[in-house]
Amino acid sequence: AHAEGAAGSKFDFTEVEAGVDEMHHIAEGYDADVLLRWGDPLFADSPEFDPANQTPEAQARQFGYNNDYVGFIPIDGSSEHGLLVVNHEYTNEHLMFPGIVKVEGDKLTVAAADRKRVDIEMAAHGGTVVEIRKQDGKWQVVTDGARNRRITAGTEMELRGPAAGHARLQTKADPSGTRVFGTINNCAGGVTPWGTYIMAEENFHGYFVGELPADHREAQNYERYGVPDGSYEWGNFHDRFDVSKEPNEPNRFGWVVEVDVEDPNSVPKKRTALGRFKHEGAESIVAPDGRVVFYLGDDERFDYVYKFVTAGTYNPDDRAANMDLLDEGTLYVAKFEDDGSLTWMPLVFGEGKLTAENGFTSQADVVIETRRAADLLEATKMDRPEDIQPNETNGRVYVMLTNNTKREEADAANPRAKNAFGHIIEIAEDGGEFAATKGTWEVLLQCGDPSVAEVGATFSTETTKNGWFGMPDNCAVDAEGRLWVSTDGNSPKATGRTDGLFAVDTEGAARGTSKLFFRVPVGAEMCGPLILPDMQTAFVAVQHPADGGEDWEGFGRPSYYEDLSTRWPDFKDNMPVRPSVVAITKQGGGRIG
Ligand code: FEO
Ligand code: CA
Ligand code: CA
Ligand code: CA
Repeated sequence: AHAEGAAGSKFDFTEVEAGVDEMHHIAEGYDADVLLRWGDPLFADSPEFDPANQTPEAQARQFGYNNDYVGFIPIDGSSEHGLLVVNHEYTNEHLMFPGIVKVEGDKLTVAAADRKRVDIEMAAHGGTVVEIRKQDGKWQVVTDGARNRRITAGTEMELRGPAAGHARLQTKADPSGTRVFGTINNCAGGVTPWGTYIMAEENFHGYFVGELPADHREAQNYERYGVPDGSYEWGNFHDRFDVSKEPNEPNRFGWVVEVDVEDPNSVPKKRTALGRFKHEGAESIVAPDGRVVFYLGDDERFDYVYKFVTAGTYNPDDRAANMDLLDEGTLYVAKFEDDGSLTWMPLVFGEGKLTAENGFTSQADVVIETRRAADLLEATKMDRPEDIQPNETNGRVYVMLTNNTKREEADAANPRAKNAFGHIIEIAEDGGEFAATKGTWEVLLQCGDPSVAEVGATFSTETTKNGWFGMPDNCAVDAEGRLWVSTDGNSPKATGRTDGLFAVDTEGAARGTSKLFFRVPVGAEMCGPLILPDMQTAFVAVQHPADGGEDWEGFGRPSYYEDLSTRWPDFKDNMPVRPSVVAITKQGGGRIG
């Protein structure tokens, strides 16, 4: 039994003091041990990490960059032995590579990439599957685990579902429209009830350069997704990332990817039935009738909340029977009505406005241009939907809306104009059935500093100056049904605090109370989080430490490889900062939080 905290809180720990420095901080009585750093070996033959002499080949055998989603697939039902699955969302060249930044006054210029650098970046993207084991209370990486695997921007994948093989997905290299290399910008994700790993492709637009041929049929489609964006230089060395040379390639990204972790040589599947947009994550739950429901956010200002309901049902006794459940089902987009009701509108070819008249000739067109289909259905334009988490314990669903400073007009579901700090919506599906097409919703929290009246934050009065947060992003629900929220973008300069992991009460008198459990080093974003089923371990992912570290006095500016504001977690002169996964355990054992 656990003592309840103040005013019926389901959490019982002494919170961390908010602030900013070069270290991570965990609540008193807990250990936070770095488990996996960028460059760490994943295989018995992985080369030692040598940051000044990195190669694409070495990187492909080492833990990738910018760990984001963290999932755990138990081996034999254990909470002490399993496969850790981790997304590597993107790369920060100025923090990764020595000698590429030129400094003039306050201005940083990053040198143009060469082929080798681009290939390292591509190998640092994707995901990791790695066996881990808890021994004597501490987690260890099993570098000879038979299922250990790196997935990169070059891993061969199969396109499946309604858009597979469609002309709009065919390229010179792949006339079949079913084979694609790699996955990129995998943000949050999920683990399915049948134990596969889901990687969500988010900001894929940043990887494309070039200009579409004049009057190309994809012009309107790509404009809606911001393609090409040219943040990365891959297209200067790999033609498929140049839309003037391979105009259909962007249609092969922006999907949900499913990986069978049991076979390290399995071909990951891009599941087109779940739509194409800037997928944040894909957390799932089994409905009472056995269908499986996936909640999906499209992380862009004024974009939408979706869910996918499988046509088939989950069979807990036959793993193989579940392996293609994600190829058939219904994709819905959310309309949050002002009266607190919610309608899930099906995105089905031939229904409503999704017809030839509007340029849709099949379900393939609907999923390729999911955003335009949802526009036509007049779905509710949201303040950047991030991770969405169903909660089996209380039957509700939590939607993280990170912020939207461009919103001019508030509405019921996005109640603040110039929404700088974001909010969290709680959904109750009709009858507590996750597959329902109707429900109700309310705002659980308007985020931001509650001591500043104009911010309009709605944390409970029990929430201390350390416990409030802005920019909810990833989240998790633990085995006791408690909500954990990690944040992205709390500015040290504006708020005197870094991002962190917060414990948020959703029930009873304590509803809306938040406490800070862990905070990241300067410049980092807090990803993960994950609490294992036995409640004895939490994993968190510290992403891009030192990035933007110049944003706080005392940490130097500018911040780049040779002049880092922090060298977390090694603090060695010959080591740059390294995004890392951290394992949190209670000293002497016991429940997290
Ligand atoms: Fe990659 Fe939406 O955060
Ligand atoms: Ca995120
Ligand atoms: Ca999550
Ligand atoms: Ca984010």
